[in-house]
Amino acid sequence: MRRIAVLTSGGDAPGMNAAIRATVRTGISRGWEVLGVRNGYAGLISGAITPLGAREVGGIIQRGGTMLGSARCREFETGEGQSKALGQLQQRGIDALVVIGGNGSQSGAHALSQHGFPVVGVASTIDNDLSGTDVTIGVTSAIDVALEAIDRLKVTGASHQRAFLVEVMGRKCGYLALMAGLTGGADAIVIPEQEADPESVADHLRAAYANGKAHAIVVVAEGARNNAEGMANYFQLHHERLGFDLRVTKLGHVQRGVAPGAYDRLLGTLLGAAATEQLANKSHGVLVGMIKGEVATTPLSEVVTQKKALDLRLLDLAHVLAK
Ligand code: F6P
Repeated sequence: MRRIAVLTSGGDAPGMNAAIRATVRTGISRGWEVLGVRNGYAGLISGAITPLGAREVGGIIQRGGTMLGSARCREFETGEGQSKALGQLQQRGIDALVVIGGNGSQSGAHALSQHGFPVVGVASTIDNDLSGTDVTIGVTSAIDVALEAIDRLKVTGASHQRAFLVEVMGRKCGYLALMAGLTGGADAIVIPEQEADPESVADHLRAAYANGKAHAIVVVAEGARNNAEGMANYFQLHHERLGFDLRVTKLGHVQRGVAPGAYDRLLGTLLGAAATEQLANKSHGVLVGMIKGEVATTPLSEVVTQKKALDLRLLDLAHVLAK
């Protein structure tokens, strides 16, 4: 190995910078040249690739987002786009690529790997919906944002005896909502893996008041059939019969822009370092992730075909604790 490149792709996630820094600095310490690709696969296609030294990745570990930039690149999903990218890599004598990102990004990594190019993926997305890792870079900090919002809504909610709905991101996965609801003390949690209709949510909120609470909170995943919009419409329509208002807060991209907390800095650091270790050991076509507290690798072919399961027992626990 002489020269490797690193890119971040898909939705930025807090801790990506820690992974870039660890990839660059461990690569350099192995005597390699490390290059950074700007704006994900779009930059790989256009050839926006520049050398990264140890100093260029200084002062980034504490910053959210990604210093390399990111993109969702449709062109890379095509054979033509992939050929252009491979051409750029070959033209620059790049021997291997590290791809930091989530599901779509690792599908791209798998495609390059199937073309015979050495790639190692690093698990990173605030959705935590990626197989091959128990936890992805970014999700813990994103949950913290949701918790801060829930805590604040409880303060104002208690002042007015109001019910609040908080919608969190997560695409089709309910992990963020489940964890934010469980650790934020929500009275109801609505996720795509176990849909709940507005009437059952209203029952949970009513139970919260009946239990003497001054506020009631429901956390909803954006991917749920009855997401913020659906719930808000229903509660507005049936306001008189249901007996209370439901104020809605959609957190959206606010969850992504946060500075990484301790765990995401650590995870980014460990997985970035593991990526160059894999390449040094001539192992590629794999994702590096964290399984049962240990850094572990999983073939990208498995990562892109397997669906990650959510532990629905935690939903039952959240309901038991919402007393
Ligand atoms: O995959 C990360 C994520 O933040 C999802 O939770 C969300 O649905 C999506 O990205 C939003 O994508 P974009 O930033 O392209 O609007």
